[in-house]
Amino acid sequence: MTTSQPYPAPYPTVPYEPLGVPAPDAAVRSRAFHDAMTRRRTVRDFSPRPIPDGVLEWAIRTAATAPSGANVQPWRFVVVTDPDRKRRLREAAEESEREFYDRRASPEWLAALAPLGTDWHKPFLEAAPAVIVVFEVHKGPQSPRPYYTKESVGIAVGFLLASLHQAGLATLTHTPSPMRFLGEVCERPEEERAAYVIPVGYPADGARVPDIRRKDLDDVLIRL
Ligand SMILES: Cc1cc2nc3c(=O)[nH]c(=O)nc-3n(C[C@H](O)[C@H](O)[C@H](O)COP(=O)(O)O)c2cc1C
Repeated sequence: MTTSQPYPAPYPTVPYEPLGVPAPDAAVRSRAFHDAMTRRRTVRDFSPRPIPDGVLEWAIRTAATAPSGANVQPWRFVVVTDPDRKRRLREAAEESEREFYDRRASPEWLAALAPLGTDWHKPFLEAAPAVIVVFEVHKGPQSPRPYYTKESVGIAVGFLLASLHQAGLATLTHTPSPMRFLGEVCERPEEERAAYVIPVGYPADGARVPDIRRKDLDDVLIRL
């Protein structure tokens, strides 16, 4: 069935090009995507094995296809591979995290983190061959006011993690608190605010991850 727009849109348009998945294949493909995504885990133990050329660029291109409030695309992805800069990232992150774990984290927060075994040590910031620092771009001399910045950047990071995972790489979504030091280490202007630090690479041989459970569909899906 084809329908045409009743009147020309008052802005330039292009034809929408759907993937055109045959209806009988839709659930099979959804299931296959689920089965691949369910194997994504946050990995905290990386191998020095290099990342194949092009993968990071394709993953960032994919992240940059995400929807964003008013299409402002308020994101910037800084790829850190230089060992000296990774060391500086680690040192600054550990200083900030030590303060968090020792003083600022509430007992409830520490209890929630306990099953994950995380603490202020961040060796993965040096061990992973690349660390992607994701910045939100706020209003500045070269950038317009963004809308729904956190939501937009969060969706882009979801695309990024999915793309890296399907390429066989492991990631860690790290959010040091506070993150101000990242602007300095990554030499970003005032209007860019760090939101995520994502070490990327192959998992170390024999890497293990916390034994956690995901909620059942019935716990997360409400039908009305
Ligand atoms: C917004 C966000 C912030 C996170 N921050 C950290 C972090 O700072 N350090 C860390 O080790 N893991 C961090 N994680 C990873 C979570 O602990 C992890 O996603 C969760 O335990 C579920 O495990 P999974 O990713 O293996 O499914 C973060 C995840 C998200 C989505």
